[in-house]
Amino acid sequence: MNIDSQRKDDHVDLAEKQYNAASQSDFQKVRFVHHSFPQIKTQDVSLASHMLGHDMPLPFYINGMTGGSKKTAVINRNLAEVAKELGLVMASGSISAAIKHPDLADSFKVIREVNPNGFVLANLGAHHTVENAKRAVDILEANAMQIHINAPQELVMPEGDRDFTMWLNQIEQIVAHVGVPVMIKEVGFGMSLETMQQLKNVGVKWIDVSGRGGTNFAAIENARRTTFSYDDLENWGQSTVISLLEAQQLENDVHILASGGVKTPYDIIKALSLGAEAVGLSGQFLHMVVNEGPEKTIETVQGWKEKMTAIMTLLGKRNVAELKQTDLIFHRDIIDWCEMRGID
Ligand code: FNR
Repeated sequence: MNIDSQRKDDHVDLAEKQYNAASQSDFQKVRFVHHSFPQIKTQDVSLASHMLGHDMPLPFYINGMTGGSKKTAVINRNLAEVAKELGLVMASGSISAAIKHPDLADSFKVIREVNPNGFVLANLGAHHTVENAKRAVDILEANAMQIHINAPQELVMPEGDRDFTMWLNQIEQIVAHVGVPVMIKEVGFGMSLETMQQLKNVGVKWIDVSGRGGTNFAAIENARRTTFSYDDLENWGQSTVISLLEAQQLENDVHILASGGVKTPYDIIKALSLGAEAVGLSGQFLHMVVNEGPEKTIETVQGWKEKMTAIMTLLGKRNVAELKQTDLIFHRDIIDWCEMRGID
């Protein structure tokens, strides 16, 4: 097996090994105020949302994960079945491996084969050229792209990138020339307002803040290292909640999406209430398809719809847009961050 396929298998194995259903995230530091008269009925609630020019029946998506080996082809097949059945947008993992080794393309193409009419995103890193981005879109017949930014992961990864001087420039080129809508995402380290402003200034319209709280790529890469490990970087970055609060200072011609540590329907509603237009889940979907298979995962997610409708009814909110006017209470840690950063 080549080093790229091995890395893809390592990532899914380690993400699943480090997955912890009971782990805490900043979502537990956000609470809703209960008001006793919701004054709407469950039938009034719509879970629909919109992203990258696409209408979605549900406000969440399967975020970029995998492809590039035999094992990950099976995972992509199972995830694509879930996406098809539920009408979910699904992103591939980084297609870089298939650009380097064209024989690995099938492990990504399976996403499109299973779900020919689905809304599919092709994922690549920010160092890639417009040519490569176009190839990634062709491989998946993708409707849109995800470009990931992941400097901490690259630095902890022994074989990772060490030169980040061209990333913003490459993103600007890709957004301008790839010919499909582009979402820029972190990989679990979150974003600052400054990062989002830089992205906005190079023409980016869709940002997934992908913060701390779930899959931790510093921990995953540390586990792959054979020499010293970068333990301190396992605490690096902003949580998804903090990143969403940072994003509230941006003027509203950028669409904010959230991921990172989202495991439950309750987390999804919290992220939407904090301003996300849709919410991505990776580690949780991986955990479900690996342990329970696609059928059971579909059943579980069907249940989520009812739970989300119940929570929105309790909040008296009919749709994703109305959720932005929800009364929230924050733990002191989060208030401290906001005070130091001048966030109202
Ligand atoms: C990822 N993630 C990721 N992101 C990306 O943009 N390109 C990629 O190739 C991958 N690969 C990948 C593999 C595996 C196994 C996992 C679990 C995740 C990162 C992912 O999209 C997301 O940003 C983070 O995982 C945080 O979300 P969760 O996992 O906490 O929901």
